[in-house]
Order: sequence, then C-alpha cells, then structure tokens
Amino acid sequence: MEVIKLNHPLVSHKLTILRDKNTGTKEFREIISELSTIICYEAMKDIKLEDVEIETPICKTKGKKLNEDNFAFIPILRAGTGMLDGLIKVMPNAKIGHIGMYRNEETLKPIPYYFKTPSNLDKREVIVLDPMLATGGSGIDAINKLKEHGAKKIKFLCIIAAPEGIKKMQEAHPDVQIYCADIDEKLNEHGYIVPGLGDAGDRIFGTK
Ligand code: PRP
Ligand code: URA
Repeated sequence: MEVIKLNHPLVSHKLTILRDKNTGTKEFREIISELSTIICYEAMKDIKLEDVEIETPICKTKGKKLNEDNFAFIPILRAGTGMLDGLIKVMPNAKIGHIGMYRNEETLKPIPYYFKTPSNLDKREVIVLDPMLATGGSGIDAINKLKEHGAKKIKFLCIIAAPEGIKKMQEAHPDVQIYCADIDEKLNEHGYIVPGLGDAGDRIFGTK
C-alpha cells in the first residue's frame, strides 16, 4: 500500500514549529494533538456510516452516523499517548488500548513492557498511534502483537516517518495502511530521524 502523507500548507507550517528545537513542551504537545486530529480525518475517509433518520428544527431528514464502538485506538507508550487526545476529540467513544515498549538505545530493538487492549479486536478497526516511525521496529512489533490478539483491520498513524521504517513496515505488514504528516530523509547512526524533531516522548513530556 502507498503511504498516505498529508499535503497542506497549514500542516507544513505546524510541522516547522514542531521540528524547531526552541519550541517548548506546551506548544509541542498542542501541535502533536492538532496534527493527530488532521491525520485522523484523513485516515477515516473510507469508513462505513449507518443511515439514520433524525428531525431538524425544520423537518424530518435522513443522515449518516458512525458507530464509534467499532474503533480501537492503540497508542504505543509513551509518545503515542501524545496523539491520543487529538483522536478522541473527534471520536470520544472509541475504545482505547495501550502497548508499552521502548527502544534499547544500543540495539534499537523494541523492549515490550505492557499490553492491554479492548476485547474483540477482530471486530474492530484498530488505529495504532506513534508519532515516530524510525527503524519501524516498535510499530512492527506492536502490530505483530495486535494480530496475535485477533486484529485484522489495522491502520498506523504517525507524525513523521523515515523511509527505512516505511519499507520495513510495508514488508512486515503489507495490509497496514500508513498515514503521516511528513516523510523525512533518513535515519542517523543513532536511529534518529533526520531532520526529524528529536525524541518525541521527551519533547511531549518534557523529560529532557
Ligand atoms: C520512540 C517512538 C517510537 C519509537 C520509534 O519511542 O515513540 O515508539 O521510538 O522508533 P523505531 O521505529 O525505531 O522503533 P521510544 O522508544 O523513544 O520510547 P518513548 O515513547 O517511551 O519515549
Ligand atoms: N524515536 C524518536 O522519538 N525520534 C526519532 O527520531 C526516532 C525514534
């Protein structure tokens, strides 16, 4: 599947603020949330709606509604939680799961430490959230686990993706559509995205 990248001047503007090392925690967190909402709209373009009858103050009419219960949002801890409120703003009744993993700084391999998801993953549209797709290790492992627990329909939403991570994700999970705000140049020797925005978790939570 092709990667779907947002293409909008306001997104480019917000990304520039996000990337800037002088941007503080508050603004960084707000922009992550804002971009996540926009990516969510893009990722929901193909969702199925149900026909409903309603009454406006003027007359009866037909409309379309979403069954939010069909969705599971799964942020990868920690940084993925920074994207979560941008999604629950538009779909407050979606179910939420959490996958905990962090990268070993030497090997760059993900170390899992937590897994808790809503039931019946096989019947839900599963939306995985992580701002950074770098080597792809964390996203791929998270999706492996979700598939082991029954998930069949999965989308991966991130803010910035590296070409290396996209390639690995597409090889491991060709059925998973990736949505992002931008695709960067490469990874550096420490596995960080270039130009990137630094460590997303540290910048969201102000830990460095
Ligand atoms: C970051 C990021 C991803 C991962 C991406 O998390 O949020 O989960 O790295 O890298 P990868 O594609 O090479 O696996 P990190 O391990 O820094 O943990 P944190 O969210 O707790 O800061
Ligand atoms: N994780 C981050 O937070 N940033 C990167 O550039 C790569 C992995």
